Amino acid sequence: SDSLKVALLGCGTVGSAVLRLLSEQADDLAARVGRRVEVAGVAVRRPDRHAGVPAELLTTDAEALVTRDDVDLVVEVIGGIEPARTLLLAAIGAGKSVVSANKALLAEDGVALHAAAADAGVDLYYEAAVAGAIPLLRPLRESLAGDQLRRVVGIVNGTTNYILSRMAETGAGFGEALAEATEAGYAEADPTADVDGFDAAAKAAILASLAFHSPVRSSDVYREGIAAVSASDVARAAEIGCTVKLLAICERVAGEDGDTIAVRVHPAMIPTTHPLAAVGGAFNAVFVEADAAGELMFYGQGAGGEPTASAVLGDLVAVARNRLTGAAGPGTTGYAGLSVRPMAET
Ligand code: HSE
Repeated sequence: SDSLKVALLGCGTVGSAVLRLLSEQADDLAARVGRRVEVAGVAVRRPDRHAGVPAELLTTDAEALVTRDDVDLVVEVIGGIEPARTLLLAAIGAGKSVVSANKALLAEDGVALHAAAADAGVDLYYEAAVAGAIPLLRPLRESLAGDQLRRVVGIVNGTTNYILSRMAETGAGFGEALAEATEAGYAEADPTADVDGFDAAAKAAILASLAFHSPVRSSDVYREGIAAVSASDVARAAEIGCTVKLLAICERVAGEDGDTIAVRVHPAMIPTTHPLAAVGGAFNAVFVEADAAGELMFYGQGAGGEPTASAVLGDLVAVARNRLTGAAGPGTTGYAGLSVRPMAET
C-alpha cells in the first residue's frame, strides 16, 4: 500500500534527529503505524548547510511543500511565530495533520490552530513543545481527561534548573553559574528567554490550557526570572531545608463567582523533601494534583535533539495511525471557558 508522506519544516538540532530516527527505525515505524512513513521534503532556509540530507528532498519553498498533494503529515520544528503560523494554517487548510514542537506559537495562537484543525478534521499534536521527551501533554489531554485537575507545578526549563542546581552545589553566584551553563552547552548564546522566564511562561500557558480546558496565553502568565537570585538566597534556603527552583505554577482557584485559573512563573523555595527538589541538572519534572488520581509526577529530559525528537516521533506515529483510521485524535477536548485570574488578585 502507499506510504504516508511527511513534510519536515526546519532541520536544526531537533529536525536532523527526527530525520535520522525516521530512517534508522523505518521498518519498526512501518510495523507500528501499518504503513511506511517516508519523508516527502525538508524545508530549510539554507540548503547548502544540510549536507547530510539528500539534496532532492531539500527545498526553500516551505509553502509549496506543505500544500503538496502527496504530503499527508507536516512536522514543524522551525520555532517562533512566523513563518510557522502561516505555514501550519496553510497545511491544516490543505487537510494535512500537523505535529509541532513550537511552544511559542502554541502558547500564543493555540486556540486558532486548534479551531482550524477541528474545522479541517485533522490532528494537531505538540508533545515536544513542553518538557521535551516527557510524555505530558497527551497524559493531560487524554489519560487525565476524566479527572479534575487542581494544580500543575513544573520545572520546565532545563537551563535555569542547571544554573540554580550549580548555585546550590558550588555556592556560585548567578553570573558564574550562567557562564558555566553556557560553556556546558545548556544556555543559548542569548539566554534571555530561559533566564527571564519567557520559555517557562510559554510552557506554563500550554500546560494550563490543557489542564483546565481553557485558553491561556503566554501574555496571561505572571513571570519573574532567576537573574535576581543570589548566592545568599540559595544558601539561606538551604539553611531552612529548602531549595530554590524556577517553577511554572498553574492552579484552579475557587471563587464566589466560579473558578478561575492562576498561572505564574517565578523562583520559589520548596522543601528539600518535595519530589521536585530532587530534580537536578538540566532535567525537567512536572507535578500534577488531580481530584481522583491524586499526586503524579512526570520526570525526564526536557531538551536536546534526541529527547525532543522522541516526542515528535511519538506524535508522528499517533497522527499517522489516526490518518489511516480516518479519525482525528482529541483536540482541545472542549473548552471549559475558565478565565485567567489577574495576578494582583491571587
Ligand atoms: N531552552 C529550553 C530549556 C530548551 O532550557 O529548557 C527546551 O525548550
